[in-house]
Amino acid sequence: MADLHTPLCDLLGIRTPILLAGMAAGPCTPELVAAVSGAGGLGVFGATGMSTDALADDIARARALGARAIGVNVQIARANAPRAEAAALTAALADVRTSLGLPASPADTRPASVSASPRDLVAAALAAGATVVATGLGDPAEIADLAAAAGAPVLAMVATVDEARRAVVSGAAAIIAQGAEAGGHRASFEVPADGRVPLVGTMALVPQVADAVGVPVIATGGIMDGRGLAAALALGAQAVSLGTRFLLATESAASATYRRRLAGLPETATVVTDAVTGRPARWVRNTLTDTLERGPGHIGWGPQRRALDDIRRAANERDAPEYLPMLAGQGAGMAREQPAAEIVAEIAAEAAAVIDRLSR
Ligand SMILES: Cc1cc2nc3c(=O)[nH]c(=O)nc-3n(C[C@H](O)[C@H](O)[C@H](O)COP(=O)(O)O)c2cc1C
Repeated sequence: MADLHTPLCDLLGIRTPILLAGMAAGPCTPELVAAVSGAGGLGVFGATGMSTDALADDIARARALGARAIGVNVQIARANAPRAEAAALTAALADVRTSLGLPASPADTRPASVSASPRDLVAAALAAGATVVATGLGDPAEIADLAAAAGAPVLAMVATVDEARRAVVSGAAAIIAQGAEAGGHRASFEVPADGRVPLVGTMALVPQVADAVGVPVIATGGIMDGRGLAAALALGAQAVSLGTRFLLATESAASATYRRRLAGLPETATVVTDAVTGRPARWVRNTLTDTLERGPGHIGWGPQRRALDDIRRAANERDAPEYLPMLAGQGAGMAREQPAAEIVAEIAAEAAAVIDRLSR
């Protein structure tokens, strides 16, 4: 069998070049992180939106479950200018709110404690035993000194070659090249006022980033199985990072409504828009995304997400996928419910078999 081990595996302290993408808002439970790390990959927490105490508790739990290599991902995104007034957004969502049995205006659902900053989250994670720091949606310079002081490599996610070069200057030890197929927010460091960001596919981005930087590259976006891992290695990557595939892992905290919608999702069923959170992200297209795209525009990264809090809760409670915001990549239809360790083992075995077959 082909050996998938790459130099990056040694840097990250892992055996198999498969990373769980850190996903904010819950999917990356301690059980999921520990299962991926236990299977030889790198489990990564999605820390954005968590309190430092909750993050430290989760890391302690993953360690208690046996995880040694543990990553923590933070979004570096800054506040941006709103394009609409809150009242106009509320008016645009009137039918959605009525359908879900919600009052005409959202209550102020801001959590009592404001979520921690990227620096506070990284400091807390490193103190709790995280061994790798990953960033997305901004320049890793913001946290690089903290990681360096702890001896933890920084993996910076980028969407362009230019951002990859900037991230290396800022101290990234490896680059996660995010292709346009990816579920979740675009990694773009800056988002222009019209919300249009580059959408370079994984196939075109990974080799150009690998040629441009002198550090290892990790491919992400649309990689769902061993064929994807083998292809990423062929393109010059030393590992892959998977988000959407792990959403359906047994240990993920994705809701039942979300899981059912992802299973068998057609490759055409997602859309990139900034109308849901105020920054461009790839979502399952549904009545909610259509309504928001027809609406007045977002009210700013932060306020926009809070404005949808009760809609998200109600859509899950009522099992209403048409109104639930669901991040997902173009490969979602290839995911299925199974334990995370099985996902890692299956992808590694399939990639080795593909490489063996191609090299015969
Ligand atoms: C549900 C979900 C949440 C995500 N949350 C984050 C996040 O908090 N930080 C981040 O840098 N990237 C986040 N991403 C993007 C991933 O890091 C990664 O780029 C993407 O999942 C790769 O594409 P794939 O979903 O096709 O595997 C998220 C992706 C998904 C699907």
